[in-house]
Amino acid sequence: MSVRRLAKEQPANFTFNAKSEAEIAFWLGKYPETRKASAVIPLLWIAQKQEGWVSEPALRVVADRLEMPYIRVYEVVTFYTMYNLAPVGEHLIQVCGTTPCMLRGSDELIKVCKSRIGEAGTVSADGKFTWTEVECMGACANAPMFQLANADGDHYVEDLDGPKLEQILDDLAAGKQIKYGPHSDRTASEPHGTKVLTDPSLYDGSRAKKIKLPNTGKAEAKS
Ligand code: FES
Repeated sequence: MSVRRLAKEQPANFTFNAKSEAEIAFWLGKYPETRKASAVIPLLWIAQKQEGWVSEPALRVVADRLEMPYIRVYEVVTFYTMYNLAPVGEHLIQVCGTTPCMLRGSDELIKVCKSRIGEAGTVSADGKFTWTEVECMGACANAPMFQLANADGDHYVEDLDGPKLEQILDDLAAGKQIKYGPHSDRTASEPHGTKVLTDPSLYDGSRAKKIKLPNTGKAEAKS
């Protein structure tokens, strides 16, 4: 892993907006006052979701809010690669380059990203894209894939190749909604060309037997 440092250019200040404050209240409610530092990861994540990245002023605001030394928050934000330490484009494309994705063609995706967007971690000229290479995101059965982070949330885009990614980038640049999940003949991670679980009772819970919950006389739930 490369050394991660804060961006050279930083904004003068940072303030959580009302939406972020509501989310912070939720997370702080999970911990006793004396253990509120436990919320450091979600608070940094909220800061990132608000601004697209975690700036130094944001780091200090989080540390002050949680009564933590700045260095402790710095250690967290520079350790976890999920935090962006510099501004990113409107669409952040995180391409998985770990072995299963590599064997299934992630190099082709990275080549497209380089030619269409630029070097990893940079913002494209139109401000729309940033791409990075990341480690396994647990979707190996749908390799190769990337995670898309933008105003619509965080979504996996799977079963890709170079031409499919080119089309996806065209659509995103044009402001079109893209398909999340597999870009293939399957709906999830079932084997290609097969139809499995066609009977909804196999996955909707209707076949589960009723059981008595422990320590209750009456309530029943399905196993
Ligand atoms: S190796 Fe790419 S998601 Fe696991």
